[in-house]
Amino acid sequence: MKDTIRQLIQQALTRLVDDGVLPPGLTPTIQVENTKDKTHGDFASNIAMMLAKPAGAKPRELAEKLIAALPQDAQISKVEIAGPGFLNFYQDTSALAARLDAALADAQLNVRKAGAVQRVVVDLSAPNLAKEMHVGHLRSTIIGDGVARVLEFLGDTVIRQNHVGDWGTQFGMLLAYMQEQPVGNDAELADLEGFYRAAKKRFDESPEFADRARALVVQLQAGDTECLRLWHRFNDISLSHCQTLYDRLGVKLSMADVKGESAYNDDLPQVIADLQAKGLLSESDGAQCVFMDEFKNAEGNPLPLIVQKAGGGYLYATTDLAALRYRANVLHAGRALYFVDQRQALHFQMVFAAARLAGFVPATMQLEHMGFGTMNGADGRPFKTRDGGTVKLIELLDEAEERAYTLVKGKNPEFDDTELRQIARAVGIASVKYADLSKHRTSDYSFNFEQMLSFEGNTAPYLLYAYTRVASVFRKLGKEFSEADGQLVLEAEQEVALGARLAQFGEVLNGVADKGVPHLLCAYLYDLAGLFSSFYEHCPILAAETPAQQQSRLRLAALTGRTLQQGLQLLGLNTLERM
Ligand code: ARG
Repeated sequence: MKDTIRQLIQQALTRLVDDGVLPPGLTPTIQVENTKDKTHGDFASNIAMMLAKPAGAKPRELAEKLIAALPQDAQISKVEIAGPGFLNFYQDTSALAARLDAALADAQLNVRKAGAVQRVVVDLSAPNLAKEMHVGHLRSTIIGDGVARVLEFLGDTVIRQNHVGDWGTQFGMLLAYMQEQPVGNDAELADLEGFYRAAKKRFDESPEFADRARALVVQLQAGDTECLRLWHRFNDISLSHCQTLYDRLGVKLSMADVKGESAYNDDLPQVIADLQAKGLLSESDGAQCVFMDEFKNAEGNPLPLIVQKAGGGYLYATTDLAALRYRANVLHAGRALYFVDQRQALHFQMVFAAARLAGFVPATMQLEHMGFGTMNGADGRPFKTRDGGTVKLIELLDEAEERAYTLVKGKNPEFDDTELRQIARAVGIASVKYADLSKHRTSDYSFNFEQMLSFEGNTAPYLLYAYTRVASVFRKLGKEFSEADGQLVLEAEQEVALGARLAQFGEVLNGVADKGVPHLLCAYLYDLAGLFSSFYEHCPILAAETPAQQQSRLRLAALTGRTLQQGLQLLGLNTLERM
């Protein structure tokens, strides 16, 4: 709709230029917004205010001329001037109803990508192996998965890349500890976390152990067979822990998406050689660095991107440069999105800038760091267990499911236990995921079980429940409902409001894809659920006045159900038929 209005305004502007009302050569960005208050129409534009000055006219006068020059369009019922010179557009309800009918008939709900489809790399999850995944990895995994799903729905080819940390110092510790405490079988090693903690303790206590650990990392990276054999074992165990979690979370990630730091090992000397050949390297205290004019520290001194240590070792940045050119030249991605903690923002700015300078990626490739804030506890401090340790993801999900079980059982004591368990699993996981998805990506966020499991407010239980209410309409109907029959007519004010919001699904998804912010979709679904409630309250369906009216309302309910279900699925949440 907004695009349509933009085009209409554009045509009016051209006409006014031809008529000499506006000077030629103006190329304003035409802004069209959804109005908050529907008594002011559905869409508004400030174009007359923007152009009043160059036109040498008063905004309201120019607005009048614009309205006179606007072409007729079946989707717009009227245009009015408001306030200092806003143009308010009212959409035609029968044209809107026809669009909703078309959406209902379409598997994609008539949603299309606004621009051209692309190949997109989504860098997500990326835990450091050997340590078990903890809550800190939750955000990247969940937000990244949500955005990836939306991109796919819009038609992009998405390539998920799980850039796990599988090559760092932690493996030296494990290898050194393994020499002291040979662990024979996989069952003993299954508690890799405990093994890692013991090794870390030794590392922190004994300088001799620490030296040995560092030497073993060098050996490993040089390709020592025995080190590599053990390293593979550690990795397999650790990755299988991750996979268990992904499956439980319902996140679309598999072993095939893992492309860890180690995968780029062979290319690292070449990265350095290529930077050297481009004249981009300078030595600083024995280390190889890229200095770029735009990066300075607080004192105004140049800030280096270090790509090789004095001892010859490579760094996180070197690997990211190698990964970047792999993504550009082998995966042929036109866009790469990195879902990584906001605290790594400078790292990515520098890596992206260096890759561009070195010509590692085509100039047209979009590189975006989708940073996110820290996950805090309910007290607003970094999320920790009661005794100050890091919270294991598994334990967190167990608790969420347990709490959801108590909650659902309290509401439905008559459900049998198998069903209660199944509902609790879905609600528990959904609550944890939704709480994360519904906050603005870049803000810090407090983890709070009570809030996320509440049936009120912008929460998973509220939305899942809203969906079951839509589903129950069709159960209570007592006859078959066919989407092919009848047509939508928007009469009551609640029907128009719900219909207008339903028509914005595509625009919302395009916003999520554009900026990598799933909270827009959450807010939209929450709004939709509220609008459905008031529609349901004011517009009887089962007791409708005529069969045609009943069918129209059923169609509106069906489209609401499909939109809610599709939206929740794009967030990685499974709907329930009852709860
Ligand atoms: N393993 C890293 C960490 O936990 C995240 C990696 C993110 N992806 C990347 N391409 N650097 O901090």
